[in-house]
Amino acid sequence: MMTVKEIPRLRGQVAEWRGAGERIGFVPTMGNLHQGHMQLVRHARSAAQRVVVSVFVNPMQFGPGEDFNSYPRTLEQDRDKLADESVDLLFAPGIEEIYPHGARHTTRVEVPQVSEGLCADFRPGHFAGVATVVARLFNLVQPDVAVFGEKDFQQLAVIGRMVEDLGWPIEIAAVATVREPDGLAMSSRNQYLTAEERQRAPLLYRTLCEVAARLRSGESCFAELESDALQTLRSAGFEPEYVAIRDALTLQSPAGMDTPQVVLAAARLGRTRLIDNVQV
Ligand code: PAJ
Repeated sequence: MMTVKEIPRLRGQVAEWRGAGERIGFVPTMGNLHQGHMQLVRHARSAAQRVVVSVFVNPMQFGPGEDFNSYPRTLEQDRDKLADESVDLLFAPGIEEIYPHGARHTTRVEVPQVSEGLCADFRPGHFAGVATVVARLFNLVQPDVAVFGEKDFQQLAVIGRMVEDLGWPIEIAAVATVREPDGLAMSSRNQYLTAEERQRAPLLYRTLCEVAARLRSGESCFAELESDALQTLRSAGFEPEYVAIRDALTLQSPAGMDTPQVVLAAARLGRTRLIDNVQV
């Protein structure tokens, strides 16, 4: 596996593979890789001849007071894990490589509708930061297929919409959320939890499963289901930002009971912000 920091080398290598008719798979990440990320890498491996993984902690998607500075950076360990999965190229650029004019002065990509509400209400500008960096990475790597996790359900919708709107010939593949044995969705941020919080954290997933089970059994009062879930989380010491039942394709409020639904939530537990979702 080669590790590349500069754009010209990345472009040169990818052009060589493309010239040989090879299909390119791409997994963008912020590093500190866990089994959730590795599942995406394995999917890319099965879908393409060449796999490129990027590790870049993107300042543009962090708001003021968020954890950009403390976000875990573990490039050496990440490199070993990716080499073990036969990744072909690790792209680990510096900030100036991605934002030569600075993140504040770069051309921005804004994706309407799916970027509104849910996490966006609590992280203004976050999805423009995600869409902008992923757009730039897509243009640098020019993958045939790019792999994202359902764990970040709204992010997946934003990327899908961006690719559709801009007409890029990139297939977006989604991988189911990888969980700890007790149900907690794997996340680089789980390591911020204290031991005691870690014990309580799986309640988020259990609460979403409970809402999904009630929906499946025919309950249709969304407001009541959402407020019951918020209450459950508050009683256990979480500070929920939202629990929302949405149409799984549009992320808008469901028009009825017949379209696929998803239950999404974000909640703080101590200093850690957890997100999760369950499809119905
Ligand atoms: P990061 O949080 O590192 O996640 C990279 C990819 O791994 C995302 O597609 C995310 O949904 C997926 N992922 C994370 N935890 C997962 C889990 N438990 N199961 C399955 N997939 C999981 O998401 C980002 O980085 C950034 O926003 C990025 C897209 C790289 C843009 O900067």
